[in-house]
Amino acid sequence: MASTVSYMLLLPLLVMVAFAGDLNKDFDITWGDGRSKILNHGELLTLSLDKASGSGFQSKNEYLFGKIDMQLKLVPGNSAGTVTAYYLSSKGSTWDEIDYEFLGNLSGDPYILHTNVFSQGKGDREQQFYLWFDPTADFHTYSIMWNPQRIIFSVDGTPIREFKNSEAIGVPFPKNQPMRIYSSLWNADDWATRGGLVKTDWTQAPFTASYRNFNAEACIWSSGASSCAKTSSTPTSGSGSWLSQELDATGHQRLKWVQKNYMIYNYCTDTKRFPQGLPPECNIS
Ligand SMILES: *[C@@H]1O[C@H](CO)[C@@H](O)[C@H](O)[C@H]1NC(C)=O
Repeated sequence: MASTVSYMLLLPLLVMVAFAGDLNKDFDITWGDGRSKILNHGELLTLSLDKASGSGFQSKNEYLFGKIDMQLKLVPGNSAGTVTAYYLSSKGSTWDEIDYEFLGNLSGDPYILHTNVFSQGKGDREQQFYLWFDPTADFHTYSIMWNPQRIIFSVDGTPIREFKNSEAIGVPFPKNQPMRIYSSLWNADDWATRGGLVKTDWTQAPFTASYRNFNAEACIWSSGASSCAKTSSTPTSGSGSWLSQELDATGHQRLKWVQKNYMIYNYCTDTKRFPQGLPPECNIS
C-alpha cells in the first residue's frame, strides 16, 4: 500500500520532467546583455526590451525540414511599438526564411500576427492575422511544419497559412539551405503599431515575452549532412510522417475559417501592389 502511494505520487512528476525539456540544450542567448534569460532549469526563456536594448536567442542546431513547436506568451499590457520575432532563417545573400512576427498594440487592442516566407533571398509574401484569443494572457503554441512539399504555419494546432512548393511553375522553395531558429524582442515603433502612429511607451519598460515547451521533430544539419534520427518514431515514409504531411479535410476547413475571419492582409489579393500581376504561386490554391 505504502509503495503504491509513493509510486502514484512519483508518476506525475516524471511525466512533467519528460515534457518540460531543457531550453539550455537547444538555444543560446545571443544578444541583449543580460536582458534574455533561461530560467527554472531550462523550462522558461524570457526576452526583454528597454529603452537601451532589446534581446534575442538562437537555436544551437541548424535544421533542414522539421515540425517545430514553441509556446509563446507575448508582452502584456501596452506593448505598442514592440515586435517579437520568431523565425527560421538560413545565411547568405540568397537566404531562406520562415517568419512569425508579433506586432504589439495598446492595452486591449489586437496584436497583429505577421507571417512571411523568403526563398533564395526573395520575400514579399506577407500574410497578417488577428488572433482568436489574447496572446498575452497565456502561452499558446506556434508551429512551423516545413517539409519538401509545403510549409504550414499553425497556432494551437489550427493551420493559419500554407505555402506550397511551386517549383513546377518556377517559384523557388526553401529546401536546400539549413535554417536556424531565431527570436528577438525589439523596438519598431517607426512601423509596428498602426503603421507607426502609436509609439512605444517607455514608462512601461521593461517589456517581456516568454517561451517554453520547445519541441522539434526535425532533421538536424551537421557537417554537410542532414540527419532525421530524432524522428525515427515517425518514419520517413508512411502517412504518419511530418516529412510528407499535408492538410487533411479538417485542416483545410480550419485554415479557411482562419483566413475568412482573422486574416487582415494577404499579398496574394493585393493587386495594387502587384500591378504587373500577382506572384505566380498565388494562382494555385
Ligand atoms: C492595433 O489596434 C488598432 C485599433 O484596433 C488596429 O487597427 C491595429 O490593426 C492593431 N494592431 C497593430 C499592430 O497595429
